[in-house]
Amino acid sequence: MRIDIISVIPDLLQSPFEHSIMKRARDKGLLEVYVHSLRNWGIGKHQQLDDYQFGGGAGMVMMCEPLANCLDHFMAERTYDEIIFMTPDGERYEQKTANRLSLKKNLLIICGHYKGIDERIREHYVSMEISIGDFVLSGGELAAAVVVDSIGRIIPGVLGDETSALFDSFQDDLLAPPVYTRPSVFRGWKVPDILLSGHAKKIEDWRYNESIKRTKNRRPDLLKDE
Ligand code: ADE
Repeated sequence: MRIDIISVIPDLLQSPFEHSIMKRARDKGLLEVYVHSLRNWGIGKHQQLDDYQFGGGAGMVMMCEPLANCLDHFMAERTYDEIIFMTPDGERYEQKTANRLSLKKNLLIICGHYKGIDERIREHYVSMEISIGDFVLSGGELAAAVVVDSIGRIIPGVLGDETSALFDSFQDDLLAPPVYTRPSVFRGWKVPDILLSGHAKKIEDWRYNESIKRTKNRRPDLLKDE
């Protein structure tokens, strides 16, 4: 999969994809991430990217022209499955969306700044608008990093143990069960006996029940259809 990210502050996205599972995905050739500076498409001597909003009001708006020229450039090179705009008024991001996006070939992500981007870009270029939650970040970069990370780790072949993403929280609308590692007793705090029993089936049942319990306690909304 290839992901192009358009940003006003590309430096913000230098590190997130260089470690851990994202690094593995890239090293295996399963994920390519390119961060592009919108400034390269800025207008005039000052490479202007934003301007005052029509109708007045505080805050600058990202102009059509740099974005449209930048998008035309990349869209001429390849077909994108989705042109995504990161914005707090977008569709709420969920694991199901990550699953769906992880099967795509080419994604392009636009990071917003200031008051947002000129609405005409949203109308004429953007195919999907994503919010990572009901709060406002100072720009779309950190939100884009969240989305790329969540997609990258579940691209088929990225995780060594093919099954491990299946047991993540949310994969089946359940939170993940508790996990433990050595030592089996720490400061007198014991690991549940069942996990040391070696009974694969009993352990599976215990984990499932713990998932249900945890979901009922913490996120009953996830169980509402059952
Ligand atoms: N840009 C600013 N806030 C955001 C959010 N909550 N989700 C996605 N993009 C954003």
